[in-house]
Amino acid sequence: MSKKIFSGVQPSGNLHLGNYLGAIKNFVELQNGKNTDCIYCIVDLHAITVKQDPKELKKSIRETLAAFIASGLDSKKSIIFNQSAVSAHSEGAWILSCIARMGWLNRMTQFKEKAGKDKEKASIGLYAYPVLMAADILLYDTTHVPVGDDQKQHLELCRDIAQRFNNDFGISNFLKVPEPLIQKNFSRIMSLKDGTKKMSKSDPSDFSRINLMDNKDKIINKIKKAKTDTLPMPNENEDLKNRTEVLNLLVIFSSLSNQSIEKSINEFSGKNFSIFKEKLANLLIEKIEPISKEINKLLNDQKHLDGILHEGSEKANEFASKKIKEMKKIMGF
Ligand code: TYM
Repeated sequence: MSKKIFSGVQPSGNLHLGNYLGAIKNFVELQNGKNTDCIYCIVDLHAITVKQDPKELKKSIRETLAAFIASGLDSKKSIIFNQSAVSAHSEGAWILSCIARMGWLNRMTQFKEKAGKDKEKASIGLYAYPVLMAADILLYDTTHVPVGDDQKQHLELCRDIAQRFNNDFGISNFLKVPEPLIQKNFSRIMSLKDGTKKMSKSDPSDFSRINLMDNKDKIINKIKKAKTDTLPMPNENEDLKNRTEVLNLLVIFSSLSNQSIEKSINEFSGKNFSIFKEKLANLLIEKIEPISKEINKLLNDQKHLDGILHEGSEKANEFASKKIKEMKKIMGF
């Protein structure tokens, strides 16, 4: 049986190595694998849960699409579209928000992190955001969702919502309960400045992350300044205890070279940190610089980019509008 893949990325001009290694690299492998139907969505409705400048948002949507394509996604093989162009996502989110329970949403750690101390001032959208994410997934009978580890809790909520809907209306398996697909070799790519924080576009320091649009000099500089410690390079896994920054750099190296951490540890054991950092910077340049150049090239042809989104939205709409119609019929509308 073929796998139905759905995943989403928030539009940002600042897609970073965490997005790439945690999600987009996997999107491309799934697209090029056997028996998969892939749908990849630029989730612009998720972006407006915090304030956006309309001009910047439009630009970010195109930049994210360009990053998808520059990383290897192909609109002939996958459906690629932006969420706001398919109205079933908003409609589905409302319906499912009447199925989801407050208690379930109150447990979401990402809301607590994002809303911070001033919860009263957070938008209702920011709180309800995982329900929109559930609608995204469930509208397409998705079987597998490739995401980074930070989205795991939202995926579990999506599963609960699907099961609850099916139970409430006595239709087993109408909403398909999806499985997460999470990278096996690491949970998250962490900040280059602080190994306890995930690499994130919202970190105020640009030195905390490698952006997909960084050029050679920036990459070299950021890796040079990346935090390490005064101990030698590890000889075995055991030596990485409480050395989150060093572990993170080794994870990045291993993921980019498609090899195990153990192999990378062996490769650099007994060597100087500067040698490792130089190799890591070179590898990053080899993998990221072509993506960055291609993004810039693609951004020169906005018409082409908008055409891809238009075509993708029409295909997505065919699936999603049918599913929402069935959902409404089941509910008595
Ligand atoms: P977003 O836009 O924050 O991130 C996009 C993808 O990148 C992964 N990611 C990371 N992986 C490893 N290390 C990191 N430091 C790191 N930072 C980000 C995320 O796990 C994600 O897979 N709510 C989602 C978008 C979404 C979605 C969906 C995903 C909306 N609807 C439906 C899947 C299915 C989000 O904000 O991801």
